[in-house]
Amino acid sequence: MTPNPTLLRELPADLERERLPKHVAVIMDGNGRWAKKRGLPRIMGHRRGVDVLKDILRCCKDWGVQALTAYAFSTENWGRPVEEVDFLMTLFERVLRQELQEMMEENVRIHFVGNLHALPKSLQLEIERSMEETRHNQGIQFTVATNYGGRQEILQACRSIAHKVQQGLIQPDEIDERLFERHLYTAGISDPDLMIRTSGEMRISNFLLWQVAYAELYVTDTLWPDFDRAEFHRALCAYQQRERRFGKV
Ligand code: FPP
Repeated sequence: MTPNPTLLRELPADLERERLPKHVAVIMDGNGRWAKKRGLPRIMGHRRGVDVLKDILRCCKDWGVQALTAYAFSTENWGRPVEEVDFLMTLFERVLRQELQEMMEENVRIHFVGNLHALPKSLQLEIERSMEETRHNQGIQFTVATNYGGRQEILQACRSIAHKVQQGLIQPDEIDERLFERHLYTAGISDPDLMIRTSGEMRISNFLLWQVAYAELYVTDTLWPDFDRAEFHRALCAYQQRERRFGKV
């Protein structure tokens, strides 16, 4: 069964529009387990995972969440069986090609973060095309982390700043949080307010290490292919019950 986008189309009445997270990040875990439980190959879980992601993106738009970031492929995921990696790369490419038109109609601005140069050339081209074509869209900001690692991101920012210091373009004393953030893959994108992880693991798994410093974390046992608007609603309710203090009293 594919997700039903007609359910919970409006913002549920028990959520306060003004206190919604502006930016939600998702670790979409559990695709393999979902498939295994049904005696299906793991790739079927990823395929279903795409449908769920599409509906959660549309739900963000329907309910007024301004930005969604999804962890699609980590730098560690290259260690999976080659057939699964190949399937995922082809899936990303196909989804981008198929969904570009709809993203334009729905005013989605798509952005990719990660070490994109190591991806297959044909995927890189689709990524460039989708980012270029949606660049001026004013609707939801949709960021896809692909071949992404938080530590690697921080290291490449350090390297880039070090080169600029070496060239005399930056003085070491000028390096502050704002300058550093401008050298991350996510430059220009606000930090997530809420990070959701499905399938029960209480880990960050190298995702947005710098950016989640003050994010609220929400972990559900639900596997990503079963994550739906009702689950998203529960996560947002939990978020609205939290008191965000940012280290203050
Ligand atoms: C984790 O589940 C999921 C992934 C590594 C892939 C997620 C990717 C998608 C849903 C596709 C997104 C597509 C686009 C174009 C944005 P797992 O395989 O680790 O599950 P397991 O822990 O049960 O094995």
